[in-house]
Amino acid sequence: MKLYNLKHPEDIVYFPEAVMQGLGRDRGLFFPLDIRPMSDIPAVLDMPFSNRSAFILSHLIGDEVPAAQIKAMVQKAFDFPVAVKPVTPNIDCLELFHGPTLAFKDFGARFLAQCLAAFNTKDTLTILTATSGDTGAAVAHAFYRLPGIQVKILYPKGKISPLQEKLFCSLGENIETIAIEGDFDDCQRLVKCAFDNPEARQQLNLTSANSINIARLLAQVCYYFEAAAAHPQGNLVVSVPSGNFGNLTAGLIAKKLGAPIKRFVAATNVNDTVPRFLHSANWQPRATVATASNAMDVAQPNNWPRIMALCHNNLDAVKQHISGFAIDDNGTFATMHELDRLGYVSEPHGAVAYAGIKTSLQPGERGVFLGTAHPAKFIETVERVLERKIPVPAPLEKVRRAPILSRTMTNDTTAFLRYLLR
Ligand SMILES: Cc1ncc(COP(=O)(O)O)c(C=O)c1O
Repeated sequence: MKLYNLKHPEDIVYFPEAVMQGLGRDRGLFFPLDIRPMSDIPAVLDMPFSNRSAFILSHLIGDEVPAAQIKAMVQKAFDFPVAVKPVTPNIDCLELFHGPTLAFKDFGARFLAQCLAAFNTKDTLTILTATSGDTGAAVAHAFYRLPGIQVKILYPKGKISPLQEKLFCSLGENIETIAIEGDFDDCQRLVKCAFDNPEARQQLNLTSANSINIARLLAQVCYYFEAAAAHPQGNLVVSVPSGNFGNLTAGLIAKKLGAPIKRFVAATNVNDTVPRFLHSANWQPRATVATASNAMDVAQPNNWPRIMALCHNNLDAVKQHISGFAIDDNGTFATMHELDRLGYVSEPHGAVAYAGIKTSLQPGERGVFLGTAHPAKFIETVERVLERKIPVPAPLEKVRRAPILSRTMTNDTTAFLRYLLR
């Protein structure tokens, strides 16, 4: 697979190099030069999840990584189930939270860890990443105790759920966590500045692990085929709870490969830059607003240029595949109650996506919304909203008592670079 830098299209690299670099020159995102549709889609849909995922990734990546190696990497990375759970007669939840950190990020982070372990040729590698919530836990657990790999994770102080923080800030060893006094956009800016600094890049042998890394994105393509396999009739609409828009980019790649998905709903909270853009054609990010679906509190989604690239930078083409939907916290809480009455407990991100599919579904269409996190990961909000206790899975119960090992830093770029290069 050849990928180009969206900012410098003449910079072309192969998949392993794009994975190792994370970001290209001038913070440019890597994107496949060409995405060839797969030929026998019914046969692909018939395969079991792990075999199908290996097949899809081999098709995308090509023979620069042998198919048997990809298969082995997929078996190690995707060693947990994906479930399609009926919620109403015509809407299902694609549950992506049955991995070790109970969130969809486990797919991308674990496949990326396999890729980096396979492609790294240097002694030590530093993973530098920003998280607005679940990425941190997924990355920390995917790389915990991997030899030769140091992990540094930035997150907005006080703006992620206490339990989420415990999940990745209590590991220690090769996992360093830094609470930044600012919002997620500040964390992303600091990460990007480090990648732009040649000294930091070289000295630390930096690579990223958030949704900008192409390996994570490609891993996420696989689970859309699970929804399509459950509903292969061609009338499937998928609602994606969106923040940085990595998940939706992966969905569009799945559609381009031939997954029978009719269209997508880009569901956001009040950080609704994309729904407003789809409506007005004006790109006008506002200041980030803190919400209950805090992993989607992103005003400037950094994967959006990839979606534009996929649609040849043509907004009308984007609108053929995606409609926008936004909801505030009160609407999200009302939706959580509605789901509860249907016998389905959801956390705020999944509820945003359910509200999106419910509002947008037309007669004859079949809806799936992505369940991106287990409700217990947002237990404070879920229990407050539903006014009752919900069960906590065993791995979460264990970390609840662990101490936080993070250091706190301001959002100042110079101080951050000085710290990195100390
Ligand atoms: C639980 C949850 N849902 C949805 C999202 C949004 O996904 P994306 O940033 O790929 O749009 C995130 C991102 O961290 C998340 O943690």
